[in-house]
Amino acid sequence: MLFSPTGLTECLREWENLEKDYQQIQDTHRLYKQKLEEVTKLQDSSSGAISRQRKKLKELSLSLEACKENTPTPTLSPEELEAITEIRASIKEREDAFSEMEAFLPKKNGLYLSLVLGSVNVTLLNKQSKFAYKDEYEKFKLILTVILFVFSFTCRFVFSYRALDALFYFLLVWYYCTLTIRESVLISNGSRIRGWWVFHHYVSTFLSGVMLTWPEGVLYQMFRNQFISYCLYQSFVQFLQYYYQSGSLYRLRALGERHNMDLTVEGFQSWMWRGLTFLLPFLFFGHFWQFYNGITLFKMSQLPQCKEWQVMMCGCSYMVLFLGNFFTTLGVVYQKYMNNQDKPKSL
Ligand code: COA
Repeated sequence: MLFSPTGLTECLREWENLEKDYQQIQDTHRLYKQKLEEVTKLQDSSSGAISRQRKKLKELSLSLEACKENTPTPTLSPEELEAITEIRASIKEREDAFSEMEAFLPKKNGLYLSLVLGSVNVTLLNKQSKFAYKDEYEKFKLILTVILFVFSFTCRFVFSYRALDALFYFLLVWYYCTLTIRESVLISNGSRIRGWWVFHHYVSTFLSGVMLTWPEGVLYQMFRNQFISYCLYQSFVQFLQYYYQSGSLYRLRALGERHNMDLTVEGFQSWMWRGLTFLLPFLFFGHFWQFYNGITLFKMSQLPQCKEWQVMMCGCSYMVLFLGNFFTTLGVVYQKYMNNQDKPKSL
């Protein structure tokens, strides 16, 4: 409970104490500002040193290349050739090390973030904050997935009003837009999200925007139920994805081996495989549904009563989504399979 002084003497004593506390607060804050300045200087010198090293390494690589090309091979001894190969391998490793370091240094935002947020620094400076941000991103997706699931269920089975559909499409546009911003921030913080998944969310934003502008009519009603059923299914798959992605995140964090797949233990690898093989049939079913949506829309565009440009636009968007999602997922699975084959099964 807070102490409340009653008499004047007590008030004066309390004031003296508060004065002392205030002095301490001022000292702590001064120290904090001083450390902040030191950190800023260290950040600048670290970024500068990295870019200088990068430049020099680039020049060295070119010089080594020239040495190799200009000298007829027999004049270079096997030791010299080996030294060149070793230096080249080390240069490549150093590039990876610099990328890891840069994940903890402020950097200029890319075009998209500069347009949306301006030149504010989005780099989080420690692993805990990065993890917390990623965790929040996954939770945000989960909450929105539940809302979208309930919304699409209501539109599909309870009410059928164009105005309510429009609200649903608007929510989709906002959701995907927000995802693209959050993913750009994650990438700035060293996340390895493939460019396709971010692009996939741009296409989804566009697609939802086109659905929003599609006027009520025969063609809209022809496609409406199929689209909303697909959204319902996608929310369900997103729910499964959440368990896989957040499970991976927590396990990798627990192992303390983020971004270093070659050191993961058997338990994590087998968990990941089980998760992925469980998820894959649902993902591929979703991808073929996207293909089916594309075909349906292309067929609708051939109908004599089809006047709306939205039919063709949505059809093309679905085809792009299908091709990108299908082949990227295949690529991810192949890469993980190969990694799994190459790596020792246990530490
Ligand atoms: N959206 C956002 N981020 C994704 C992602 C996606 N679809 N897929 C992977 N990532 C992120 C991971 O969280 C990880 O981030 P981190 O570096 O910050 O830890 C990074 O990208 C690298 O992930 P990776 O190891 O390549 O893949 P994964 O094992 O995490 O996930 C899949 C693999 C195939 C399960 C996942 O990519 C996926 O669900 N893809 C299908 C998406 C889709 O088709 N949606 C439509 C469904 S109908």
